[in-house]
Amino acid sequence: MEQSLTPVAGASSVGALLDWARRRLASRSGSSGLDAEVLLGFALGRSRSSLIGFPELGVSAAETARFHRLVERRVDGVPVAYLTGRREFHSLALNVSPATLVPRPETELLVDKVLERLAPGVRSWVLDAGAGSGAVAVAIKYRRPDCQVVGVDRSGAALEIAAGNGARFGLDVHWVRSDWFAGIAGGRFQFVVSNPPYVRRDDPALTSPDLRHEPREALDGGAEGLDGLRAVIAGAPRVLAPRGTLVLEHGFDQAKAVRELLNECGFRVIETHQDTAGIDRVSIGELA
Ligand SMILES: C[S@@+](CC[C@H](N)C(=O)[O-])C[C@H]1O[C@@H](n2cnc3c(N)ncnc32)[C@H](O)[C@@H]1O
Repeated sequence: MEQSLTPVAGASSVGALLDWARRRLASRSGSSGLDAEVLLGFALGRSRSSLIGFPELGVSAAETARFHRLVERRVDGVPVAYLTGRREFHSLALNVSPATLVPRPETELLVDKVLERLAPGVRSWVLDAGAGSGAVAVAIKYRRPDCQVVGVDRSGAALEIAAGNGARFGLDVHWVRSDWFAGIAGGRFQFVVSNPPYVRRDDPALTSPDLRHEPREALDGGAEGLDGLRAVIAGAPRVLAPRGTLVLEHGFDQAKAVRELLNECGFRVIETHQDTAGIDRVSIGELA
């Protein structure tokens, strides 16, 4: 066993490197085979399919060393998306950096719920509060270019990545650096959509290898995990147009608290939707 974890030295082959990396990553990642293929593809500038089809392909000593460094950083918990600088979201290949949360598959539900409510042919205004990499704002604008989409975040470094993602797809999204809605004019938006930080501050997951490389301000939701959700629910009525809709992502055990907060802040027709794992993930309210 020890033998198989020893790095392959010098020039090597695709098959030998993949075999080594799968074993090296097995204790760290539930997707060690996929991680190994994505990282080797990135190190060599090749597609995953070309690696799988040609295990005998030669790899230089310099490329082998580069791949070893990537695998060791992955063993240390660095997300694959930070190592490659890319993450697919809603079928769009987005740039990410350690300044942005890595967009999660379950957040696609947030986008879907906005898209299914956007009236066809109506030029709606949509605000993404806490845009991060811009994943939600960019996905909505990409599917509905006729809508006016604004993304806000408190992090200037995250907004730079978001703006780059909008530009990559030629999308005219307006990016604003703001503490939630402080820098936003009132009464304009038909939709506010948000995936705010919602992890409880004492949740051990925050310091686990899986999350500790991601920005604390993108995850930490305060003592009960509800600080960001409270701020967005309390602030959204001012920026929403009459009968505007707020679409929120939250934690698996926060739906009841979020629905109560929505009700207290004047929202009605309140619904909660489950993600593909059957977990309460998105709650929606309409201004009365
Ligand atoms: C969970 S991340 C979501 C990022 C992205 N929307 C996504 O779904 O991948 C939350 C984002 O909210 C931002 N944020 C936290 N507090 C904020 C505040 N007071 N005002 C504006 N943005 C804030 C963080 O910088 C982070 O980018």
